Amino acid sequence: MKELKVSAINKGTVIDHIPAGRGLKVLEILNLSGDNTILIAMNVRSGKLGRKDIIKVEGKILNEEEVNKIALIAPSATVNIIENWEVMEKRKVEIPDEIIGIIECANPNCITHYEEVTPKFKVLSKKPLKLKCHYCERTMEEDIVLKHLL
Ligand code: CTP
Ligand code: ZN
Repeated sequence: MKELKVSAINKGTVIDHIPAGRGLKVLEILNLSGDNTILIAMNVRSGKLGRKDIIKVEGKILNEEEVNKIALIAPSATVNIIENWEVMEKRKVEIPDEIIGIIECANPNCITHYEEVTPKFKVLSKKPLKLKCHYCERTMEEDIVLKHLL
């Protein structure tokens, strides 16, 4: 029998297999309004692989665009759409073609650090990750990207 740490939900979205410790950051990036009930489980034992975080958003079916925003920090995450207590759909997050907000440009001289503009990057490559700033054209690879999370 499976052990359930947080209640099952009737309808909504479950983001599972988030690397342990990144759950709160994921929640922040999802930028949900105050209307939704949210259940969070952190440091849950997950198979042999150690620990994971889980976020359950009750009553709201998140679309791909909303969910893919978390791909940079939780590439292993699984998104489960729940209806009538059942998993109706299960998919992996995917890195979008464009990243808006979420990270800051690594170039200290970039205009995004001086003006009120939202950082924006074009995804040149998903694996290995490589982004290019829309404003200054600085390219950033995975290790640098993760150091510039907003
Ligand atoms: N879940 C939930 N409410 C439901 C059904 C499922 O909160 N009514 C949650 C489960 O607790 C789990 C996730 O949705 O965190 C996926 O459910 P399920 O596919 O049944 O679990 P697993 O088979 O363990 O998923 P995976 O294969 O992705 O590890
Ligand atoms: Zn820049």
